[in-house]
Amino acid sequence: MNTRKLGSTGITTGALGLGLMGMSGMYGPSDEAESLATIQAAVDRGVTLLDTGDFYGMGHNELLLGRALKTLDRDRVLISVKFGAQRGPDGSWLGYDARPAAVKTALAYTLNRLGVDHIDIYRPARLDPAVPIEETVGAIAEMVQAGYVRHIGLSEVGAETIRRAHAVHPITDLQIEYSLISRGIEGSILPTLRELGIGVTAYGVLSRGLISGHWSTERQSVGTDFRNHSPRFQGENLAQNLALVDALRAVAEARGVSVAQIAIAWVLAQGEDIVPLVGARRLDRLDEALGSLEVGLTAEDLAQIEKAVPKDAAAGSRYAAEQMASLDSER
Ligand SMILES: NC(=O)c1ccc[n+]([C@@H]2O[C@H](COP(=O)([O-])OP(=O)(O)OC[C@H]3O[C@@H](n4cnc5c(N)ncnc54)[C@H](OP(=O)(O)O)[C@@H]3O)[C@@H](O)[C@H]2O)c1
Repeated sequence: MNTRKLGSTGITTGALGLGLMGMSGMYGPSDEAESLATIQAAVDRGVTLLDTGDFYGMGHNELLLGRALKTLDRDRVLISVKFGAQRGPDGSWLGYDARPAAVKTALAYTLNRLGVDHIDIYRPARLDPAVPIEETVGAIAEMVQAGYVRHIGLSEVGAETIRRAHAVHPITDLQIEYSLISRGIEGSILPTLRELGIGVTAYGVLSRGLISGHWSTERQSVGTDFRNHSPRFQGENLAQNLALVDALRAVAEARGVSVAQIAIAWVLAQGEDIVPLVGARRLDRLDEALGSLEVGLTAEDLAQIEKAVPKDAAAGSRYAAEQMASLDSER
């Protein structure tokens, strides 16, 4: 697999990373054996960046990755972990805690669950509104000094927070949603990252499956699926968004590739500083996602894609209103 330099703190990673969130209930039930096989196959095929969060399944996702690591070469992979989101035993969301003591406590538990002695990129999942970012990043920087963390990342924060954090300790990357239908970072965030030499790990490149070509009005999400509450997957919004997918499908078919592949390839084409995190949780989905690396898009292809899916054409916000209000990146 081609590699990309992620930020300017010395990380080189496979051009696509694997996000494990969907393997712990965020998109309904998943199969553990299939999840482990998907992680192993991804690494065998050149994926090096594995992304998790301590709150994905309340520890389940880290325990899963810990099991996968038993058959992987730890030194060949880069483990990215988010912390700070508070959740109850029933999965309810209780806010964020990124105080220095919480940083160190969460990290200690994470190291044990994963069975490793360091995390490659450690990041707060969201800005804790009660804690200055300098204090959170300062505490992670102490953990870098102590050898428990190698690099510091951020997630879903805006330009001003990025600058304040980077002034305390060099930031490797910002993890943030970026896709054909979520292009908000192109305003002030991406130019700030480029000015400071900070990379992007892009999530939601398929808008959580909406623009994968595998979603339809007939498809029912079950259980705790995030998509049950996502504005983009409801009623009229869904119909409008699937019409965009139909337009994208025509471009993909003309190129002889799948909808998911052209959507991921579009993100890959937005800059060498961007590493898309794909959320495959099955071998067939992984296979399809990795095929996007072979899709070289020309300027003409990019123009056709953006004609099919114009900027800001999506119906509905990327999160429900309450969660949108908690995003520093949306201020
Ligand atoms: N920092 C943050 O705030 C944040 C937020 C969300 C996610 N993330 C990270 O980013 C990762 C990816 O995010 P995401 O899961 O929302 O990404 P995504 O790639 O937009 O959506 C993944 C979903 O798309 C569907 N899909 C259909 N075809 C696919 C294909 N060929 N390859 C992959 N997926 C396909 C799958 O759903 P079905 O299996 O149901 O078809 C899958 O669960 C997460 O695992 C997590 O590590 C970070």
